Formats: sequence, structure tokens, C-alpha cells
Amino acid sequence: MIPVNEPLLDGNEKKYLLECIDTGWISSEGPFVKQFEGGFASFTGVSHGVAVCNGTAALEAALYALGVGEGDEVIMPSFTIISCATACLRLGAKPVLVDIEPETWTMDVSQIESKITPKTKAIMAVHIYGHPVDMDGIFRLSEKYGLKVLEDAAEVHGAEYFSREKGGRWLKCGAMGHASATSFYANKIITTGEGGMVLTNDEEVAERARSYRNLCFRAEKRFYHTELGYNFRMTNLQAAVGVAQLEQLDRFLKIKVTIGEYYSKMFSGIEGIRFMPVKEFARSVYWMYGVELDPAAGVTAEEMMNRLKQRGIGTRPFFRGLHDQPVLRERGLFAGQEYPRTDFAYRYGFYLPSGLTLTEEMVDRVVTIVGEEMRGEKS
Ligand SMILES: Cc1ncc(COP(=O)(O)O)c(C=O)c1O
Repeated sequence: MIPVNEPLLDGNEKKYLLECIDTGWISSEGPFVKQFEGGFASFTGVSHGVAVCNGTAALEAALYALGVGEGDEVIMPSFTIISCATACLRLGAKPVLVDIEPETWTMDVSQIESKITPKTKAIMAVHIYGHPVDMDGIFRLSEKYGLKVLEDAAEVHGAEYFSREKGGRWLKCGAMGHASATSFYANKIITTGEGGMVLTNDEEVAERARSYRNLCFRAEKRFYHTELGYNFRMTNLQAAVGVAQLEQLDRFLKIKVTIGEYYSKMFSGIEGIRFMPVKEFARSVYWMYGVELDPAAGVTAEEMMNRLKQRGIGTRPFFRGLHDQPVLRERGLFAGQEYPRTDFAYRYGFYLPSGLTLTEEMVDRVVTIVGEEMRGEKS
């Protein structure tokens, strides 16, 4: 079986973990946490990193830190993980959706303005599968309507966006909004097993995120609370792995880009398969290699994934739209709304093995088998 992903833990992970055990520093008070926060913030190009226990928690802490609360609306794409919606709902805010831009599966920025109301507080830009959202339109709307911008940078460690609006320069994903949230889940470019981080240049936002992750303890009065927070802390053990992974991030990015570009080259000649193009404004890091089947081929993503599984190829489905989630619809959300491009991507899209341990021979094998299955051949 060629797995869809495998973490690569061949650096100092073991050494730093043993250091935690030898010194007894295993909780969030240990020194690796600050080291990881500083290191990842500096890699991203922001002044503050607030490490938390996962990416979902990072989204919630970031929204809270940006002042999103009861009755506010947050505009986000329909094509994303449920974490984006749950982070809002837990704060009493309402997710409001736009459809995707069909080529890259990132949010269609041209649909945002029509969704802005007096209650809109923030736009959540979710970068997808290693490719950035076209941010310039979001920057303009943020200025015009005074909205906060939160980037979901879980899938784009190291990716870049060329902004005409911000002086014609390349900006790192995760450093473009008022805050961003990322994930270090085991399938992310660098991992801590489970983990996440809030990133920002704003000291006040960072402080609010720190407070939220730590039960909103008040610095001047221990065990006295005026706001509800959570225990979202990251342990020193997780951060130890993070520090070791960070040392390898440049190497990992080279591997990801090599794999992604090689897939695109090999798929160029194959009928009925569309892959994500890299837009002129983007430096993609090819977090996961997504493809979409031409409906004319008469096969859905689900059918194709089943066939590939039988032939030893691991895959994962694309996101099912937020508008199509019973748990959200039961709450009266998105009634009567349609997001056809998201539905199409869900029906025909899936991603292929994209892990850091993938070799060129494995990619060749994946592409050959996908091609055979598209043509209805059996080897
Ligand atoms: C775009 C996006 N946002 C947020 C998350 C949530 O991160 P976590 O799984 O660490 O909670 C994920 C998935 O892991 C994701 O892909």
C-alpha cells in the first residue's frame, strides 16, 4: 500500500523528547514550547506565536483574540473542514459561506462582498492543499468595511502569495491577516502529532489568545476569572517534536514541491484528470496533491478511491461542504443555500499519496494506476 501520508521523524525528535523525560519538563511550562513558538513565528515572519493543542483550538483562540463573539458573522468558504464553523459557533458567532473558485478550490473572493452585513466581523481565508487564497480582494474589503482577516494556514506552512495591494511583494501565508491559525496534526507539513498555533503581529491579540488557551486566568489574581477560556495548552513533549521538525522544514518544503511538480508533469498527458494549477500569484507548497475527475469519464471520486484502494493506493476524499453538514443545518444554518462548485469538488475530487517519504517510483506507480483505471484497463 502506498499511504496517503506518512510523517518524517528522522531528525532530532527522539533526542529532544528524551530531553523532556530526562529533565521532567513534560507540561506546557517546559522550554521547548517557547522555542517552538518563537521559531515558527519567525519562520512565518510574524512577531508572536501562541502554541495550542490543535488547529481547531487555534482557530477558536484566534477568533476570540480578534474580538469575535456573540451575534457576529464570519465569512468563510463552504469548502473547508468543520473546525472553521465550530470555532465560530462555540463563540456564539455565525459562519456565513461563499463558494469556491473552481480551479484551486480556494474561496471565491468575488462572492464575499455580497455576504457582508452590519454583523460581519471577520473574513476567514482558508488556504487549500498548499495553495494560497487570492488575498488582495480580501485586503480591500477588510479596509473598506473594517473587517478582521483570519487566515487558516493549516495546510500551507511556507507557501507564499504575491500581493499587488501590499506593495507588489511575496508574503508568507500565515503572516497576511490580523491573525492566523495553523495546525501541526500528523499529516501537516511539520507535525507535533496534535498541535496548533495562533500567529500575529499584534501583541494584544497574542495576549488574548494566550489567556484563552489558559482558562483566562488573570495575571494579577490567580483563580479569579472574568472570562471563559479553555485549556488549549501544548505540552513540552509536543513542542520538542515541533522544534525538531522546524529544523527540517526547508528540506520538507523542497520534497513537497518536488513531488507536486512531478505529479503535475506526469498527469499532464492523462485524459479526464484535472489537477490544481499554481496561479501566478502563488508559490504552492503542494501540501496534498488533489485531483478532480472529469464527469464525462462517468466515475465519481468515491468509486475511483475504492478502485485505487484495491490496487494499493491510499487516497482521501475532498471536504464535504459546510452547507451539507446535518449538524450545521439542524441549527438552521445555510437553509436554501447552494454551493455548486463545492458540491462538484466533493463529488469528483480526492487527494493522492503526498507524504514526505514518497519516491519518484511511487508517484510513477500512482499515475500509471490512475491512468489505467480512467481508461478502464486492468493490469
Ligand atoms: C484547513 C484546516 N483547518 C483546520 C484544521 C484543523 O486542525 P486540527 O486537526 O489540528 O484540529 C485542518 C485539519 O487538520 C485543516 O485542514
